[in-house]
Amino acid sequence: MTHILASDPRAALMVNDAAHLLKRCYLLQRECVLMQAGWLPGTPDLAIKLALAESLWEDALIARELRQRVLELRYPERLIAPDADQALLDWWCGFRDAPDGASFARGLASVLKPALQQAYQTYLDLSDPLDDAPTRRLLAHALADLEAQSARWAGALLDAEHGPAGEAWLSGARAAWAAAGEATLLGPPQAAYPPVPGRRPFQIARHAARDPRYARLAFAWPDRIDSARGPGEGLTLQVRAAVHHANEIWATEMAAAVLVDLAEQAPPEFLDDAARWCFDESRHCRMGLARLSAFGFSPGDIPFDTFSYDAGAELDPLTRLGIIFYFETTFIHTKPQRARIFQASGDRLSAHDMDYDWADEQIHTHYGSHWLKHFLEQAGETRTPLEVRAAAEQAVRRLQAQAGPGDVAATEARFQRAMALASRYANA
Ligand SMILES: [Fe+2]
Ligand SMILES: [Fe+2]
Repeated sequence: MTHILASDPRAALMVNDAAHLLKRCYLLQRECVLMQAGWLPGTPDLAIKLALAESLWEDALIARELRQRVLELRYPERLIAPDADQALLDWWCGFRDAPDGASFARGLASVLKPALQQAYQTYLDLSDPLDDAPTRRLLAHALADLEAQSARWAGALLDAEHGPAGEAWLSGARAAWAAAGEATLLGPPQAAYPPVPGRRPFQIARHAARDPRYARLAFAWPDRIDSARGPGEGLTLQVRAAVHHANEIWATEMAAAVLVDLAEQAPPEFLDDAARWCFDESRHCRMGLARLSAFGFSPGDIPFDTFSYDAGAELDPLTRLGIIFYFETTFIHTKPQRARIFQASGDRLSAHDMDYDWADEQIHTHYGSHWLKHFLEQAGETRTPLEVRAAAEQAVRRLQAQAGPGDVAATEARFQRAMALASRYANA
């Protein structure tokens, strides 16, 4: 029998090969999201914290597209399991066992992300532009995101400090990576990979770390101790909105913690929502930082607290999720009101920030009620989302009630100082 014999570089990867490699990339990318979320609350450096939030959100988007592509290639098979890649995955996750957040971020930026970039580029070089075009499109976008992340990490890590333990761990991590070899992520699965020396088993921080370059208070603004004090008017309302926005770093941390606590038991869509939630709250923090910086505030003039995150320290993961849900649902109605007030007073930028914040918060209240309901049903609990929210509110109020005279005086002094600064700016 006569055949046309055709060997072509286009034919390097058959569908099964592609599905296997992309499944591995999906799992590695997903673990990257979890590792970054895990380090977010316990990392003091604010630039790193904010960079983690943005990068884990982008990574979650890449993971989602990779997963979708694996399902397409294996249709109708729905199961995605590590199988022979378990040892590689365990090794990869071991990179979170860093001595501190700054070291982890350096390892992430100098080892893990470049490794992913290299793997995606290798896949692009091997794959067929015709038959595998959908994968090539998603990997090209993933590479563009990772390239942009690389530039952002260079900026975020500029002032990052870590001690000798961090330096030793980092050189160990780089050496382990080099020993594993360039083809590690796309190569044949190994039974074991070069160990990283000096690992410290990772544990997520249940009390949020704060950047020492900023002002640290038990409560960042008077109405965070006593809501009866009210938000104020005019300039006070403008500064208050910016300080409260900056302090939404706690919600960034709580979304990250909830992601880490619940992702293993959740459907993949939870990772998408929690990562987006985390990133949105980090943008709200940035809104506040940008406004305060424009008002002439230096980092040392900007007050931060942690009580909303710390209130979850002793709670179960669902009630921690309830804490964000409580804040979102209690204060969402103020956002459009404030946007209108700022617009009317000629502060278009504060109005603009509040307008977009409100759009985000509408999605977040849906995330909160949807996922609380899901996890409660999954656990067979009889509690309703509103009962979880009430327990969350009590935990927050317990910490507010612990404010001593010293805390109240410190918050008031910081408030007076902030308003004096803002008045000088307003009158200049
Ligand atoms: Fe927010
Ligand atoms: Fe929110």
